[in-house]
Amino acid sequence: MDIIDGKAYSAKLRAALKEKVEKSAIKPGLAVVLVGCDPASQIYVRNKIKACEEVGVRSYSYVLPETATQEEVENLLDKLAADEQVNGILLQLPLPKGLDAESAMARIPVEKDVDGFSAENIGLLCLHKEDLVACTPLGVMKLLENEGVDLCGKNAVVLGRSDTVGKPMAMLLLNANATVTVCHSKTKNLKDICKNADILVAAIGRPKFVTADMVKEGAIVIDIGINRDENGKICGDVDFENVKDKVSKITPVPGGVGPMTITMLMYNACKAAFKE
Ligand code: GUN
Repeated sequence: MDIIDGKAYSAKLRAALKEKVEKSAIKPGLAVVLVGCDPASQIYVRNKIKACEEVGVRSYSYVLPETATQEEVENLLDKLAADEQVNGILLQLPLPKGLDAESAMARIPVEKDVDGFSAENIGLLCLHKEDLVACTPLGVMKLLENEGVDLCGKNAVVLGRSDTVGKPMAMLLLNANATVTVCHSKTKNLKDICKNADILVAAIGRPKFVTADMVKEGAIVIDIGINRDENGKICGDVDFENVKDKVSKITPVPGGVGPMTITMLMYNACKAAFKE
């Protein structure tokens, strides 16, 4: 059984990006917008800014108060949209209650949509003409590629159908010629479907939801969840301790997919800046 080391691969990719940025005449700029003071979002944003420093991406950080209006958020995004120094814009989600995320995100121009969340970037992904792709699913694909996993004709099961993770994940796997099943809270016979997976990707946000009896012997298990267990310890959507002995490869939490998400944000920021 291999434990997929996302932290190590992430470091390697960041070093390569750093070198590329150093050699380039263009200095990529990423604006990160946080509205309110959700503690988890604050940590994510801090880590994103840290990654920018590591790679040599110029970061522009904006924090608006919890009480910010829709107009204030959208005015800031409009300003960043027009700013030539800013190649990528990230609006940290979720927004505080009362704000319309969809309307706000629509102010981010497609070419600066480093989250890959816009209707156009999702449409391009569905058409197998990927441009800027959502960071977490993209990070999973890079990990699988680095592990030498051949997806062609394999049964891939994605647990979760969120617009930001589950759906783009399923589409990327489909584009790589896997046979993809997407499961969600209304799915029947979930265990049987999971047991048939050569590659099982969990993105449901429920601690240790995937148990050993749901996993096929020798499967590859990718855990996208970041939760806290009953003792307040960080854990994934997979019951790692019990599942690990059954699988051929598995990502740990933390240290698996998580570091790749932020690395892919750097990758997308560079891609947007260099217009690759
Ligand atoms: N909140 C949690 N994950 C993400 C992400 O990948 N992008 C944005 N914008 N907000 C998030």
